[in-house]
Amino acid sequence: MTQHDLPLPVLRPRQIDAMRRAGAAAAATLARVGAALGPGMRGDEVDRIVREDTKARGGTCAQLGYRSGRGPAFPAAVCLSPNAVVCHGLPTAEVVLQDGDIVNVDVTTCLHGWHGDTSATFFIGDPSPAARALVALARRCRDLAVALAGPGVRLGALGAAIEAEARAAGCSVVGEYGGHGIGAQMHLPPFVPHTGPAHRGPLLREGVCFTVEPMINAGGPAVRLRADGWTVETADGRLSAQFEHTVLVTPHGAEVLTLHV
Ligand code: MF3
Ligand code: CO
Ligand code: CO
Repeated sequence: MTQHDLPLPVLRPRQIDAMRRAGAAAAATLARVGAALGPGMRGDEVDRIVREDTKARGGTCAQLGYRSGRGPAFPAAVCLSPNAVVCHGLPTAEVVLQDGDIVNVDVTTCLHGWHGDTSATFFIGDPSPAARALVALARRCRDLAVALAGPGVRLGALGAAIEAEARAAGCSVVGEYGGHGIGAQMHLPPFVPHTGPAHRGPLLREGVCFTVEPMINAGGPAVRLRADGWTVETADGRLSAQFEHTVLVTPHGAEVLTLHV
């Protein structure tokens, strides 16, 4: 019996209600940031907005001080990943958003011990048609995977569908990073791949919570880590875009917990 044969943990109704509230808070903070972005905005200003808005909603910023294995703790409240940055970009004062950029903002809120994790890639001013098409593709990849999720569906089916969609558009999918289970911690098993094969991974069942967050590259899938120990960028310097939702498996499909109303 491999780990993949073990059933995924499920949440109880009261825990699901708490996850709905955490997801809504994260989504609202992401929308607040999105409305504030524009040419000339600095990374540290984005970080401040996330800290203030998260606090105003009664939450804490789950990414601040986060450690994954060895290496430095994440030094900020939010990931800010412009252009060729794939994920985990640092929102520093040196990052100044420019007309024509695309930029992913990734917010993870902890509310009363439960987590909501969501990201979107925004346009700064007027990006090129190619950049806009990549962003639309990344959103479509996330949303088609969410639409596939439901009880009895193997997790690998989602990654396979994402990869097929991206490849049909001449783009590639990052394999080293993926989605994850989520609940009382930001990152829980299982790893959620955004690539095939479809027969891989555990079966979904009602009450399971996880994220879908494909990183789609205009060029090749290879990435490299900057010397800061966090920032992941494309090896070929071409654009990357990402969207993320936290979802709950329901009796007949999946409910998005990080929709902004
Ligand atoms: N929110 C990110 C994710 O989607 C987590 C980034 S870890 C951090 O999984 F430490 F960089 F914030
Ligand atoms: Co995530
Ligand atoms: Co995230």
